[in-house]
Amino acid sequence: MSEKLVSEETEWNKVAEELDAEKIKLAFYDSTVISLLGNLKSKKVLDYGGGPGVLAIALKKLGADVKEYDISEDMLKQAAEKIGEENIYHSVEDIPQEEFDFIICNLVLCIVFENEVRRIVEKIKNSLHQGGFAFIGFCNPKLLNVPETNLDLRPTPTHKYEENHSYMKTKKEGMYEIIENHRPIEWYEQMYKEVGLTLEDTFFTPEYELKGRKIKDFIIFKLKR
Ligand SMILES: C[S@@+](CC[C@H](N)C(=O)[O-])C[C@H]1O[C@@H](n2cnc3c(N)ncnc32)[C@H](O)[C@@H]1O
Repeated sequence: MSEKLVSEETEWNKVAEELDAEKIKLAFYDSTVISLLGNLKSKKVLDYGGGPGVLAIALKKLGADVKEYDISEDMLKQAAEKIGEENIYHSVEDIPQEEFDFIICNLVLCIVFENEVRRIVEKIKNSLHQGGFAFIGFCNPKLLNVPETNLDLRPTPTHKYEENHSYMKTKKEGMYEIIENHRPIEWYEQMYKEVGLTLEDTFFTPEYELKGRKIKDFIIFKLKR
């Protein structure tokens, strides 16, 4: 197994290559998000925490005017090579207010602390124009007690589903370890409401079966400003 452990939100640069090569995740997650967005011609889209820019370049090829912000400069460098430096925000303060039709935030909220979750969701809300949509997604919290999926290996849970807590899991693609911050779906729903985003719909990536269990890897919330 790889020696890599990503335990801080600023350490994702350690696995930038692995993220770039996550084929199963891409096929399931990114294609599900893209199918939810509809016609992207001339739509202003921000990928918040977009990592190496894999989704951003796919959206650009579909005609969107795509920007990316990420906390990691290494990630932004890779994203800039794909979508152009002029489309990169290096600081969260540079992201304009009331600007975007869509903001995507994939696999970010589950790796940051609770106060940062709220800060990010507030920032997303303020950066959407009135009537714009956010698509916020991450690993399905309902998988807490599922030891193996196509993507992850999880330890036996030490807390209940209802309890916010952190645990370490292994990503099978790349075989590196990450800290997952588990929060029940209802916790996120409440927080979106408090921030002032309306939950329009909740989606999951396509179901498959592994070792007798039915699995949907990712949850995606569609939220309207
Ligand atoms: C699991 S990766 C997901 C990358 C990409 N969205 C994807 O779906 O492949 C998490 C990303 O979030 C970024 N990140 C972590 N904390 C962040 C924060 N507070 N604000 C913005 N980006 C953050 C990391 O640098 C990393 O690129």
